[in-house]
Amino acid sequence: MKELVFATQNKHKLEEIQQAINGQFRIISLFDLNYFEDIPETGETLMENALQKANFIYQNYKKDCFADDTGLEIEALNGEPGVYSARYAGNGRSFEDNMNKVLEKLHNKTNRKACFKTVIALIYKKQTYYFEGIVNGTITTEKKGKEGFGYDPIFLPNGYTKTFAELSLEEKNKMSHRAIASKKLIHFLNQQ
Ligand code: IMP
Repeated sequence: MKELVFATQNKHKLEEIQQAINGQFRIISLFDLNYFEDIPETGETLMENALQKANFIYQNYKKDCFADDTGLEIEALNGEPGVYSARYAGNGRSFEDNMNKVLEKLHNKTNRKACFKTVIALIYKKQTYYFEGIVNGTITTEKKGKEGFGYDPIFLPNGYTKTFAELSLEEKNKMSHRAIASKKLIHFLNQQ
């Protein structure tokens, strides 16, 4: 069976992908490689970061590999927090702090358009491939809902009346930016 490393520490993401890929590939985690450190992420775009993570594993283990990176891009803030979504309010700050910073910066702004974007970089047979997933929506004026993580309580996907944090995880996982990008990756892999 072909082996493919998913450069993530997130067990939930690993299970999701392993289930969706047909029998041709065995997904190897960083835990299987006994790699427990953070992988450097110093790029200025989601693509750069995803590739940096995939490349890091490829260079060190010489195995085909993919990695993902996600950001929230807000139109009125020129695409912020974008690649800095995890640490928008500063290193080690909480999801609450990050959301508060967004809500403060958008105070009195009428344009509240935003999107979540996931980019997956795959290194397969020495070639690089990218898969993107985008969900468009708006930033609410207050936090709503308890599900999910990150910016979910302030993100209202277009066509819905509930924020990501008010949807069940199952509902969100069917239509999220990550699900869209993952489906494209899986479609590609299932054709190999
Ligand atoms: P990562 O690339 O998946 O590690 O995501 C980077 C950051 O983006 C996270 O720390 C969250 O703040 C934010 N983020 C990523 N995905 C989501 C999501 O599905 N909902 C809300 N926030 C997210």
